[in-house]
Parts: sequence; C-alpha cells; structure tokens
Amino acid sequence: MKGLELKKGIYWVGVVDWNIRDFHGYKTPDGTTYNAYLVVDEKIALIDTVKRQFLDELIDNVREIVDLEKIDYLIVNHVEMDHTGSFPEVVKMMPNAKILATKEGKNELIKHFGNSYKINTVDSGDTLSLGKKTLSFIKTPMLHWPDSMFTYVVEDKVLFSSDAFGQHYASSYRFDDEVDKSLLHETAGDYFANILWLYSPLILQLIENVQSMGIEIEMIAPDHGFIWRDNPLQVVEWYAMWSQGESKDKVVIVYDTMWGSTEKMAKGISKGIVEEGVEVKLLRIRDTYNSYIIKELLDSRGILVGTPTLNNGMFPVVGGFLTYLKGLRPKKKIGACFGSYGWGGGACASAQELVEQAGIEVVSDPLELQWVPTIEEIKKCREFGKEFAKKVKE
Ligand code: FEO
Repeated sequence: MKGLELKKGIYWVGVVDWNIRDFHGYKTPDGTTYNAYLVVDEKIALIDTVKRQFLDELIDNVREIVDLEKIDYLIVNHVEMDHTGSFPEVVKMMPNAKILATKEGKNELIKHFGNSYKINTVDSGDTLSLGKKTLSFIKTPMLHWPDSMFTYVVEDKVLFSSDAFGQHYASSYRFDDEVDKSLLHETAGDYFANILWLYSPLILQLIENVQSMGIEIEMIAPDHGFIWRDNPLQVVEWYAMWSQGESKDKVVIVYDTMWGSTEKMAKGISKGIVEEGVEVKLLRIRDTYNSYIIKELLDSRGILVGTPTLNNGMFPVVGGFLTYLKGLRPKKKIGACFGSYGWGGGACASAQELVEQAGIEVVSDPLELQWVPTIEEIKKCREFGKEFAKKVKE
C-alpha cells in the first residue's frame, strides 16, 4: 500500500494540473491541483474526483492503495466539473460504491450526467460509520454552489473542505508547512477574492456555526492547493479577516487609456497618493488579468477607476472589468472615477454607476478633463489623489 498518507488510513489521491492558465476566465498562472481523498477503514470512501482529463491519474493513485471494487462510498462534496468531470467513468469503475451528495448535489448531478445514477442524499449532521472512523457531513450552501458540503472525519479531526480554503497553485509539495507562509497568504487571498468574496457574509456565518458546534480541526484538506496541517486555523483567521473587509492604506488605480491622456491622469493621481504616504498600485486593464486586479484589491481600502470616453460611454474594457468587480461585491471599499474626453464626456458617469453597484462607497465627484491634460491640470490630478488618500487614511 503506497500513496500519500495524510493521517493513518487517509490518503491524498488527487492530481496536479501544472499547465492550466485559464480557469473559466480566472487566470491561473501557477496552475492548480484537484485534490481527492481516500479514507480507508473497514469500509472505504473516495471523497471527490477530478477533471475528466485527469481520470487515469486519479485511478492510478487509488489503485496504488486499494482495488477499485473495494470502494464502498463515493462522496461528492461539490458538483463543479473540476471535481466531477470524471464522475461517470469513476462510477462505472467502482461498481460497489454508493454515491452520497447533498439533495442539491443530487439534482445537479442528474442535470449534468442524467438520471441513471442511484444517488443517496445526506444532510448536515448526518454521519456515516466506516468502522473505526466516522464521517460527518456539514452542508455549506453557496460556498460556493448550492450543493457544496464539507465532510469531516470525527476521530482524526480532518475537515475535507471542498473549494473553501483552497488555492490555485501547482506544486510538488502538498502541505502548508512545506512552503513559505507568504506564498500561502498570497495564493489563498487570490483564490478567496476571485471565488468567494461575494459570499463573505455566509463565510462569517459558517465560521461562527462551526465554532459553536465545537468541532476540533487538526487538518483542513481542500479540493485545491496545499493541505493545512501545520496551523489549519490560520487560513480560517484569514477568511474571517477578508470576509470582514479588513484592509490597509493602499489604493488600486485601475484604468485604461486611448491616446494616453487618462494614463497621464492616473500617474498624476498616483503621485498625490504617494505624497500622502499611501501605497498605490497602477494597473492598466488591457495588460492585466481581471483576477490579478481583484487580488490586489483585496487588501486595499481604495479603488480609483480611470476611463476615457468612447462613443459617449466608458471604454469597453473598463466596463468588462467593472462587471466582474460588481459580481464579487468587495467589502468596505471607497472609490472614485476619473478620465479624459474629447468633445463630450459620459464615461465617468457610467463607470461610477457600476462602481456603486459593486457596493463601493463613492467618496468624491469624478475628475474629468478634456483632451490632453495640461501641466496645471496634472496638478489637479495630484490634488485629487491627495484628497482621496486622506479619505483612505481616515
Ligand atoms: Fe473547484 Fe467550485 O470547483
């Protein structure tokens, strides 16, 4: 019996996707992993599967530990295709495995794969004895799909947390204590901001519920990235902090430009912000992935959005970014807009509308300038930046 054993009888059987760079639009320059787990006792449970293209690797990993016919349960914590793409094949190859999912998970599995599967449903608080080990199920609806749930091994205090507490990062290492803490913070934050930020209130509620249930956690094993065994509560603390919208004195200036005028404004504004001792990050949208901008925004108190006017409205790529931002509803941010125009404005008004719809508090009127900014007008930009930075520090 080989395999990577996390605790006695609990194995990682997932795969590393070194080459994925676009995860349904979310850029993943460092790849990811699809973690699946095997719990071996008198009965044997496979927790989650992997993307369809990695089926063979999953099966090889499982076979290193047990014969496929010996698997008694297939537990589906989450139906998204990166975890169930290989579901139909896995079910065929494990003929004795009972399928367990939440009620919502069952419905989604049927909608994805047809109704020829016998799927048993579990609810929060239900338990399943594997012999010496007991699995307990905790539904986590909308973290981040309706079907989502955690599976907890009571005796080993291991929490299989599905997508929660994950990171998109391919590595030859599997555990938090094998890599730098700064890498964990960065990758977990990026993942949180782009996938879970919208659900911050639910995350806070979940953390409270789990604490009140008195569940002890020695290990958190998510479906992506590193397994938290050194200090599993560290990532829970980070999630609580991010969900509450904690930030630092930092401003993200996100902008695009046609002939350079809005960019000149962005640079002038950034100087004013720096003069106030506030960190600033300038990001031109066409050169920066949306998901990277969102990661930078996570710990920033402020966001300034710059757009030239094109055809009486905002520059289309700015609209694309703001639509993405609006969906994530970042917490406790302040913002404002700026931009240049030729013979008629309009961009800042439509950009500000989306900024407000994203839940960002707009703290000043937009700064709009015609054609190319003069030296005097650049001074105005600097002042605009200073005033905004002061509000960031309040
Ligand atoms: Fe990793 Fe929601 O899938």
